[in-house]
Amino acid sequence: MEFRHLGRSGLMVSEISYGNWLTHGSQVEEDAAKQCVQAALDEGITTFDTADVYAATKAEEVLGRALKGVRRESLEIFTKVYWPTGSGPNDRGLSRKHITESIHGSLRRLQTDYVDLYQAHRFDYETPLEETLKTFDDLVRQGKVLYVGVSEWSADQIAQALKIADEMGFDRIVSNQPQYSMLWRVIEPEIVPLSEREGVSQIVWSPIAQGVLTGKYLPGQQPPAGSRATDPGGSGMIARFMDDEVLTKVQELKPIAADLGLSMAQLAVAWVLQNPNVASAIVGATRPEQVRDNVKAAGVKLEPEVLERIDGVLGSLVERDPSRTASPAKRP
Ligand SMILES: NC(=O)c1ccc[n+]([C@@H]2O[C@H](COP(=O)([O-])OP(=O)(O)OC[C@H]3O[C@@H](n4cnc5c(N)ncnc54)[C@H](OP(=O)(O)O)[C@@H]3O)[C@@H](O)[C@H]2O)c1
Repeated sequence: MEFRHLGRSGLMVSEISYGNWLTHGSQVEEDAAKQCVQAALDEGITTFDTADVYAATKAEEVLGRALKGVRRESLEIFTKVYWPTGSGPNDRGLSRKHITESIHGSLRRLQTDYVDLYQAHRFDYETPLEETLKTFDDLVRQGKVLYVGVSEWSADQIAQALKIADEMGFDRIVSNQPQYSMLWRVIEPEIVPLSEREGVSQIVWSPIAQGVLTGKYLPGQQPPAGSRATDPGGSGMIARFMDDEVLTKVQELKPIAADLGLSMAQLAVAWVLQNPNVASAIVGATRPEQVRDNVKAAGVKLEPEVLERIDGVLGSLVERDPSRTASPAKRP
């Protein structure tokens, strides 16, 4: 495994991290979840990403149990706050009340005294940014959170947060967690240049486009049994890529991966890691073999000709519009 700094901080994270959205507490049974976590640990992954909202808080519990007994200092545990975790008006968003209550729940479920990175899962237009950032800063002072980040914030929102932190002497955010893959490059025009200047890393999600970039979904055919596209919780999430034109082009990437001796998943993960502003690619998995496959992308260098071949295949299918980074106008 290779390691990278998280933003302009002293924290190192594994270049490939493991995330449990849609899997733990939902698509996969606890035994399979534990096997995937064990495979991640065996392969040198030290960074684990979850969120209070995943599987209605059950995902944090499963991860907490799966990591029990592992030396805490050998792990970086990331979680998030924003999406609803209950039915009340204060069970969501980035208010002082919800953040404070949510971190306590996360720490209890994860069975740890602190998380290494605490992320605002979206931007909350209904809470003053100062209130959110001051609360995060307080959690850092209390030792419950070591570093602070955001997820799917726009370049303007990240810039605003950094300005307030500098003016108020708050802890600065060190990371953003956006969607990023060969097919989804919306962070490149604005977020990456700002982040490079400001010492903020990207920890990117769905680098394999939720499984689509493995090439296992064939155009015009039923998705393979047991895959995310057949899962009641996952099928709506992956739907944006389940389009015959996309699936056809993805098949055309196979010779590129084969020429390099890489699996399609490895090519997809290696692709996001070519961007030096990316600190880590968060991969999901339903089976330990998937983790063992994906992790081999660590340290792989893709030559410019390879990147050009990929662009030649995907062409105008690549989404690049920076306005696709958006948080709900009202709290969900
Ligand atoms: N911040 C956010 O808003 C946000 C949003 C989404 C995700 N995330 C984070 O990012 C993490 C990863 O997201 P993701 O799960 O969408 O990532 P992904 O790595 O693009 O997709 C993972 C899924 O693809 C399939 N897969 C993975 N490797 C494979 C392989 N080698 N061969 C065949 N199939 C393979 C598996 O699904 P099947 O076996 O079911 O097909 C697996 O669950 C999440 O767990 C979460 O931590 C964050």
